[in-house]
Amino acid sequence: MTLQPTPAAKKRILSGAKPTADSLHLGNYIGAVRNWVDMQAEYDAVFFIPDLHAITVDFDPSELAKRTRIVAAQYIAAGIDPDKSIFFVQSHVPEHAQLAWALNCITGFGEASRMTQFKDKTQKSGADTATLGLFAYPTLMAADILLYRTDLVPVGEDQRQHLELTRNLAQRFNTKFGDTFTVPEATILKESAKIYDLQNPSAKMSKTGESPNGAIQLLEDPKIAAKRIKSAVTDAGTEIRFDPEEKPGVSNLLTIYSSLTGKPVADLEAEYEGKMYGHLKVDLAEVVVDFVTPLRNRTNELMADPAELDRLLALGAERAREIASVTMAQVYERMGFLPSHSLAGVR
Ligand code: TRP
Repeated sequence: MTLQPTPAAKKRILSGAKPTADSLHLGNYIGAVRNWVDMQAEYDAVFFIPDLHAITVDFDPSELAKRTRIVAAQYIAAGIDPDKSIFFVQSHVPEHAQLAWALNCITGFGEASRMTQFKDKTQKSGADTATLGLFAYPTLMAADILLYRTDLVPVGEDQRQHLELTRNLAQRFNTKFGDTFTVPEATILKESAKIYDLQNPSAKMSKTGESPNGAIQLLEDPKIAAKRIKSAVTDAGTEIRFDPEEKPGVSNLLTIYSSLTGKPVADLEAEYEGKMYGHLKVDLAEVVVDFVTPLRNRTNELMADPAELDRLLALGAERAREIASVTMAQVYERMGFLPSHSLAGVR
């Protein structure tokens, strides 16, 4: 008998995005979700909805569960496959909060104070209204990553510093208590995938943009999506050219067009040479409608059967716990906690 060589184990990736809006927007899809969907084939993928992170800022308890369900349905509709990937809701796996506490106790106060996202957020709202939870946001994120012995974390540039902290904490823990964690790498997602606000193309498309017309919500009526594309801010001049400095509005439309159709931007520039902005907008509106419509229908189907959605999430949480509980037991053991025994064995 000849021995088959063992296939090299797939690397594990992990990522998540908070359920803080009533729908994902096009920027979330093109900038993140789409990449995750593609990565499922090549990697051992873990995706989750960080609802514990969602409560680090003001939130409405009557919205949280609803938003978590919607985002879960949108991920699945967009192609996150709960059979291929481990897909779950963070609060369903108690080890996240558990490990976060242990990590808090090896994180310096000054170190946490230097996180630029915390500084930005507290600058806006004032440090007095910020919570300890917001301060500890990055250590909870580190826990998310380290529980699963993650190799790669695909995130946006804005998360780079949190990733750096995660790596430091992993190394620190390993040095202090013995080799336990995999030190993860950040895979910062390509800048080209960044989508900007349709009304203010110098800002990222976001859930908190100034004008609702600036973002395309994936659950909205596709007719509204088409309108928003058609009323997008364009730039001085008439030429359809990719030039983010001089022509941020048109360049953003070209990026969206290229992302949704797979046509290279250069081909689009050639195709629209001598044509007007209006032509580009009419065509792109159609592209967007064709993309949004099936995604929205599939999401609504999933939302129409909440029991099935909850079942998928429960299965995901179970698979996640199988990994997380092993890591957590090791962490407690290495930190020297008194083992807790079930009464069943003592009686
Ligand atoms: N902080 C991330 C964001 O705002 C969300 C997040 C929470 C996350 N935990 C994570 C991303 C772990 C990657 C890995 O986008």
